[in-house]
Amino acid sequence: MRELRVIGETVSGEAVAEAVREGLLACPKTLPPWLFYDEQGSALFEKITALPEYYPTRMERELLHRHAREIAAGRDELRPLSVVELGAGSAQKTALLLRALDAEGCGISYLPMDISATALREAEEQLGRDFPQLRLRPVLTDFTCERPMLPIDAEDQRMLLWLGSSAGNFEMEDAVRILRDASTEMREGDFLLLGLDGAPEANGRETDKQISDLLRAYDDAAGVTAAFNRNLLKRMGRELGAEFCVDQFEHEARWNSRTSCVEMHLVSTMAQSVFVRELERWFHFQAGESIHTENSRKFARDEARALVRAAGFSPVKSWHDANGWYGLFLGQRV
Ligand SMILES: C[S@@+](CC[C@H](N)C(=O)[O-])C[C@H]1O[C@@H](n2cnc3c(N)ncnc32)[C@H](O)[C@@H]1O
Repeated sequence: MRELRVIGETVSGEAVAEAVREGLLACPKTLPPWLFYDEQGSALFEKITALPEYYPTRMERELLHRHAREIAAGRDELRPLSVVELGAGSAQKTALLLRALDAEGCGISYLPMDISATALREAEEQLGRDFPQLRLRPVLTDFTCERPMLPIDAEDQRMLLWLGSSAGNFEMEDAVRILRDASTEMREGDFLLLGLDGAPEANGRETDKQISDLLRAYDDAAGVTAAFNRNLLKRMGRELGAEFCVDQFEHEARWNSRTSCVEMHLVSTMAQSVFVRELERWFHFQAGESIHTENSRKFARDEARALVRAAGFSPVKSWHDANGWYGLFLGQRV
């Protein structure tokens, strides 16, 4: 297997230690969502995408399946195309779009960017097998840290993807900054495609989605999302010698109507102190105190279009499932 191209920041032991120190000393306690994605976390996320309750992946796949050709029809078939994807993961859905884009023009390069080497390897293996003509250039990086300088030919048309509603894991201003950083080199005619999960029903408009549907998606019956969340405690154990007793933390999904976010928490079932060897210190938890581990923002359609605009693109079109639960939003640089 080829060496993964590393650009800018990747995850070092020091970065994990610093994120944990900062997050567990904060009030309320919080951890950044990139910490989920070590080898075990990436494998658990793949399992989540196949759960009956986790509709976002299924709906996004269906939308890509149905509309990939229409999305691809906008490309300039006389120029090569470079597709850059933020947080590509295993990129299984993306293959549907890549295939349609490839059919419309003269060759594509695909640059999946991710903080997880495991996910990139899986993407590389699968796409390499199914799509041998694709110019595949996986990039291991933390896209929040700095502007990634990507190996893209100046002549190429570009398309930037951020799928899986991952933009919703960031504060709006951070999502805008990440998109702007990743698109600085993009020019007139280049595209942005966002996959975003919709907000629940508001005054009967847009969707019949209920808050209970959202919470089920983040707290499935088989307990896979709980295992994904608790893997953070295990990761701190593996990498920092943290002595968490995993059973003493409960997984909780909560709806926050003020921020329009599903929040994930790890709630301490008792008052306890946990020693973290690498940090040489104790962390104290009250009974019922939580570590806030993830926000998943849900977007009304006008908010999704505002994100496309704030990133420097003009909204072109959006596609939604029949019940308006999930959307793909296409923008173009003008
Ligand atoms: C919710 S998953 C989505 C994966 C895939 N796009 C999908 O739709 O199924 C988020 C992905 O973003 C990656 N990721 C999270 N934070 C990141 C960061 N700061 N830099 C690079 N990748 C990141 C994770 O490793 C993971 O693969």
